[in-house]
Amino acid sequence: MHKTRMVQKIALIPVEERLKAIGEAGYNTFLLKTKDIFLDMLTDSGVNAMSDNQFAGFMRADDAYAGSMTFYEFADAVKDVLGYKYVMNTHQGRAAEHLLAKVFIKSGNVVPTNYHFTTTRAHIELLGASVLEIYYDDALKTESTNLFKGNMDPQKLKNVIKKYGKEKVAFVRMEATTNLIGGQPFSMANLKEVRQICNEHGLILVIDGSLICENAYLIMQREKEYQTKTVAEVIREICSIPDLFYMSGRKNTSVRGGMIATNNKELFDKIRPWLPVYEGFYTYGGMSMREVGAMAVGIREMVDPSVAGCSVEQIKYFVNKLHETGIPVVTPPGGLACHLDAMKFLPHIPQSQYPAGALSAALYISSGIRSMERGSVSMDRDREGKEVPADVELTRIALPRRVYSISHIEYAIDRINWLYKHRDLVKGLKFVWEPPVLRFFDGRLEPLADWGRNLADAFKKEVGDN
Ligand code: F0G
Repeated sequence: MHKTRMVQKIALIPVEERLKAIGEAGYNTFLLKTKDIFLDMLTDSGVNAMSDNQFAGFMRADDAYAGSMTFYEFADAVKDVLGYKYVMNTHQGRAAEHLLAKVFIKSGNVVPTNYHFTTTRAHIELLGASVLEIYYDDALKTESTNLFKGNMDPQKLKNVIKKYGKEKVAFVRMEATTNLIGGQPFSMANLKEVRQICNEHGLILVIDGSLICENAYLIMQREKEYQTKTVAEVIREICSIPDLFYMSGRKNTSVRGGMIATNNKELFDKIRPWLPVYEGFYTYGGMSMREVGAMAVGIREMVDPSVAGCSVEQIKYFVNKLHETGIPVVTPPGGLACHLDAMKFLPHIPQSQYPAGALSAALYISSGIRSMERGSVSMDRDREGKEVPADVELTRIALPRRVYSISHIEYAIDRINWLYKHRDLVKGLKFVWEPPVLRFFDGRLEPLADWGRNLADAFKKEVGDN
């Protein structure tokens, strides 16, 4: 329920140039330049199409360093939509994670979560604490009929509290659609159960609501009691459950920013003094005031089902079409992206040779589509410097909101099918350089046995230049 009023030209460069570009990028799609990319499906973060009213929010924003009325408009939107009295902006989601870690985490602590996110884990581990993944056993099964693979296993949570003692548990974290295992939602019933356990042990419950719209929309589609509710009602109910809520504003609110919100003044007052130290003054928190203005509008717009559900519906289409033709994808379809299961797509590549990274690079060579590796490249080494194999090896093809059409998705499906027929040509990767933390961003890799060349040659022979 929206139409396009501004467009950006994109180009599909010839396969020979794509091969050169991915080589120069160290077979890491993060290091490609956008001039070499046809469909940028790396992420849904900071690249969504804003609405006309959000652009108006840019123009109307009050740029004051302190006391900007735009911040108060934002705070009103948060109160009306999410139900929180206290809110602070942060420059993006990971900045919220930094502040939460700084205030609540001590060395030796543990953080039970339904699944970690890369930046969350980095902030927790940098302070000497550990993340404990508390999911149901089948959450890592890529092909599944479990509608709520983002649920936390309550019995395992109880066991962990017993094992470590509640004083060691910094907080319990629920991620609204688990990014790294395929954008899978939790159910409201599960969230309430987790809340109950936190209450019994006096533990803080934190929600990472970076993808809260998609989680709410999937609850409406998959949890019986919520089928007749509105997105606004479901989001409000989710938000009424945790002690602390944070989100990246780069996804659901289609801007570039983040926030922490709560109704617990005591917790808020513990975090607030650190905001001007690391982010910025209390009424902008590291964000441009213009982005805060657009975020105020985005918060109100995100409960519109055609906003909350736009990527979910496209992903469903994308995943189902691939699944029908036998391409290994994560099912059921979730939020954020269509995820290819690289270990099934490329079963001949051992996990130590990064199948998801290889698949991401191969997809770029054969289509000009930029996807993201979400497997072992995205796992940092442990404290002894050893490789940590990821639970799943996924190639994530993200759907930014209101950006691509079904015809773009049809193109992607066509090229993925071509690649699947030629998958034997794709071999593994090896690291040639790694940064000390979050290595997936900047690390450089090399293809084993120069497979990129072979794939490009096969493409030229059968398809042509592009
Ligand atoms: N939490 C979740 C669940 C996320 O998906 C992200 C970002 C963050 C926290 C960090 O937020 O980027 O604003 O600092 N996910 C992006 C992605 C980067 O591509 O999935 P940020």
